[in-house]
Amino acid sequence: MNILASLHHDVCRSWQEPNLQAKHLIYPLFITSKSESSIIEGFVSNKRWGSGVNRDYKELVVHLSKLVEKGLKAVMLYGVVTLDEKDSVGTFANCQESPVIICGKILKKEFPNLLLCYDVCLCEYTDHGHCGLLRSFENEKEPLINTSESVKRLCEIALSYAQAGAHMLCPSDMMDGRIKIIREILNSNGFSHVALMSYTSKKASTLYGPFRTAVESTFMGNRKRYQHPIGSSLTALKALKRDLAEGADFVIIKPSLFYGDLIKTFSTASTVPVVAFVVSGEYKMIYDYGHGTHTFEEILRESHTSLLRAGASVIITYFTPELLEYIPRWN
Ligand code: PBG
Ligand code: ZN
Repeated sequence: MNILASLHHDVCRSWQEPNLQAKHLIYPLFITSKSESSIIEGFVSNKRWGSGVNRDYKELVVHLSKLVEKGLKAVMLYGVVTLDEKDSVGTFANCQESPVIICGKILKKEFPNLLLCYDVCLCEYTDHGHCGLLRSFENEKEPLINTSESVKRLCEIALSYAQAGAHMLCPSDMMDGRIKIIREILNSNGFSHVALMSYTSKKASTLYGPFRTAVESTFMGNRKRYQHPIGSSLTALKALKRDLAEGADFVIIKPSLFYGDLIKTFSTASTVPVVAFVVSGEYKMIYDYGHGTHTFEEILRESHTSLLRAGASVIITYFTPELLEYIPRWN
């Protein structure tokens, strides 16, 4: 059987693989309540974006303007707050001074066509750093999560973000039942047009290190009681079934590069588009391998194309600025 003839001409080669495009990319952003921007250790080309003295997030707006010109379509907002702004219920997730609410409103005005996705979770805002509200610590090495109270709190946050103008809400907490209840709250408050992107398969992975540095996390323990076992495919399938039944519009697999099998399974079993999240540790692995060498552009193309091949329709990636630069050269 001949293969080489089909690879001889570059046009024929281009027919053999999916093309990464700007529309595939969601750019995660860290929005801090501080006025100064700061660099993040281990996370070179990303920043915690400060509000500036006028609280207008001007530096970020300038940064995004250039990317929107290159085709940027979507961003995901994560909040960063100071230690004294963190408490047991994550007040700063959705109070008046919430950085993502203040910044999101500015971005909405500056970039009317940009899709605004909001991370919905508590860990960036709680003093204990867990993604839910806690029950007691009694006789337990790890605290127990109060699932129903957590879901109630997540609903309040989701509604606040919808009121602030979010197009998409992305609960990353991993509590059972939150998609259903958030959907109901949105619908009954006039936000039936706001979409839900669920973190459906999120592994208790060791690849979230630079992210936790970025959000100045106080977290010490582990999340094994709500994030999934790394080796399990059944948990992922069960969560897919649950989230589809509860009304998720998009489902995330996170991390992504070691989980191509799950992306493939989801892309055939899911009735909604599958989203792959190239997490902060994956960013670091790829960056450390390629940066400063002639292979950087190729490793970005190879890693992200592999996710499309596996069946992802959308990719959340910190490499969005670099990809927007390179994509025109690849297509
Ligand atoms: C938690 C959350 C995590 C990430 C985003 N939201 C993981 C965690 O801290 O357990 C990780 C994202 C990344 O590493 O890029 N809600
Ligand atoms: Zn969380």
